[in-house]
Amino acid sequence: MEDFLFDGEERLLDLAREAAAMAYAPYSGVRVGAALEAEDGKVFTGCNVENASYGLSVCAERVAVFTAVANGVQTFRRLAVYSSTGKPLYPCGACLQVISEFSDDLELIICGAGGVYRRCVLSSLLPHPTRLEGAEERRYPNDR
Ligand code: THU
Repeated sequence: MEDFLFDGEERLLDLAREAAAMAYAPYSGVRVGAALEAEDGKVFTGCNVENASYGLSVCAERVAVFTAVANGVQTFRRLAVYSSTGKPLYPCGACLQVISEFSDDLELIICGAGGVYRRCVLSSLLPHPTRLEGAEERRYPNDR
């Protein structure tokens, strides 16, 4: 458990909490919000969007990453995740893999409705992400 928040983390968590309020989660009842801070300070948010065909549901973190990329941003420094659960909810494996496509050393700050914070770096949760050779060379010049 963390006792205090670093500069900017409170704002980022506030944005994640606001995003969680937008969640569409009639099946699990769990509302999650993610606020992804880009290298230039811009923040992209996402919430979980569930579906009656359960497997089609998408987590808040992936919505935030895809929104950022769709807006031309691919370099990130921090991600705040807020969930309506009492304890902090760590990003799932699928989201870790998607985030790791763009960032190894992203800082994560996670908070549940109970107010407990957890802080860690992405590589500690997913030390060996799947990477395909040659992808770097095939990026467009404006990528990242
Ligand atoms: N969920 C997220 O949005 N992010 C996480 O970090 C873990 C889980 C969502 C998926 C599902 O809609 C609900 O929370 C319960 O698992």
